[in-house]
Amino acid sequence: MKEKSLRRKDQIIPPKGKLGVLIPGVGGAVSTTFIAGVELVRRGLAEPIGSLTQLGTIRLGKRFEHRAPKIKEFVPLTDPGQLVFGGWDLYEANGFEAAMYARVLSRDHLESIKDYLTGIVPMKAVFDRRFVRNLDGTHIKKGNSLRKHVEALKEDIGQFKAANGLERCIMIWCGSTEIHLKQEAIHQSIDALQRAIDANDSRIPPSMLYAVAALECGVPFINGAPNLTLDIPAMLELAEQANVPIAGKDFKTGQTLMKTILAPGLKSRMLGLEGWYSTNILGNRDGLVLDDKDSFKTKEESKLSVLEYILQPHLYPTLYKNYYHKVTINYYPPRGDNKEGWDCIDIFGWLGYPMQIKVDFLCRDSILAAPLILDLVLLTDLAQRVGMNGIQEWLSFYFKSPMHKESLYPEHDIFIQSMKLKNTLRYLMGEEQITHFGLDYYLNGEER
Ligand SMILES: NC(=O)c1ccc[n+]([C@@H]2O[C@H](COP(=O)([O-])OP(=O)(O)OC[C@H]3O[C@@H](n4cnc5c(N)ncnc54)[C@H](O)[C@@H]3O)[C@@H](O)[C@H]2O)c1
Repeated sequence: MKEKSLRRKDQIIPPKGKLGVLIPGVGGAVSTTFIAGVELVRRGLAEPIGSLTQLGTIRLGKRFEHRAPKIKEFVPLTDPGQLVFGGWDLYEANGFEAAMYARVLSRDHLESIKDYLTGIVPMKAVFDRRFVRNLDGTHIKKGNSLRKHVEALKEDIGQFKAANGLERCIMIWCGSTEIHLKQEAIHQSIDALQRAIDANDSRIPPSMLYAVAALECGVPFINGAPNLTLDIPAMLELAEQANVPIAGKDFKTGQTLMKTILAPGLKSRMLGLEGWYSTNILGNRDGLVLDDKDSFKTKEESKLSVLEYILQPHLYPTLYKNYYHKVTINYYPPRGDNKEGWDCIDIFGWLGYPMQIKVDFLCRDSILAAPLILDLVLLTDLAQRVGMNGIQEWLSFYFKSPMHKESLYPEHDIFIQSMKLKNTLRYLMGEEQITHFGLDYYLNGEER
């Protein structure tokens, strides 16, 4: 990505017309909560709580200037009124039936937009049970040719655009967590990946086929699950070649959100950590999928890496050398989407004296995830119109395992992530970066 090829300030292509949002996993709890939520907001029946793009402001200039426009008025974002939804699922249920099944939103909320949700009908999925063992839906594309699957997905994208008169689309994976996969030779270049697709290589999961189809159609791809999908050189190459942004992975909600809020605070006060025990009970379909040990391994890896990067034990051996970190998820159907996440945190302070923190977060997984999807769709569309391609590290704020350049380490501290995001917006709009230095107000008799 070359700086001079970016369109900044008034050169940014305006968000004209409608924006398509294509979702693999459109019938899931997260997707239906997102789609229904956007429609409820559009009809003035609810507020987009949790969405930075809709509610957030951004400070500009010096503190005495008191300039803090809303983000959506500062950068040219697509209005949520312009979003059109579609996608794929291996269950045939329409948007209303799927949302009722998910049991996240109330019947009152869903009944009030039933006409709209009934019109969201999933396209047949590309699915392979070897990668998600605990699901058995049958609304899937026939045949075993991976190449034909990619072509069929590209056709779906083309038809969706034509039917809705769309010029721009974003694809966001809200499908299930696939089994744990590692990078292999077939992932190392576009050529190798294309050859593997032609050879029906059994190591290519459906999520990669969706991503290839999207990128080949010039559609940005966002990965909301911890799947390997985008984290391979072939996808980076493809995104750069197609001049398309990509972002991931694994929405940062629930327990990891709390972890990346608390851990930077403890570290900033030089408090030590002896152990962090995290456990969850979750009863939705995501919980069922994660009950399979290989899908859980994918999730576990994503959840575990957070502390290591925030605490930097190599720089602070006295505080963080040997802490014990454990994460578990237990499938417990009675709770549905209302997850309970417990954290037992054993810390130590002055002279090594131990202390404990207990967190019991009775959260709602999809309620936390939905606003992130809205923001990611709108900001990735902005990135596309600016001409930013490849990894969008400035969107780390939204992910448990933020994508990053190979030579860098990921940034997990939510406060740094938030600064990174806002400074990127300032940069795009030609405003001064805000470092919170502050001494400048007091030096050399500055005017105020
Ligand atoms: N809710 C959260 O807080 C949160 C946070 C981070 C990540 N995630 C991830 O988001 C994803 C969705 O979560 P959810 O709670 O909505 O789960 P869900 O099980 O309710 O929804 C996933 C949907 O994807 C569908 N699906 C699976 N494979 C597919 C394929 N190949 N093509 C098309 N559809 C496919 C399933 O049929 C299901 O309807 C999961 O991977 C989850 O791990 C969720």
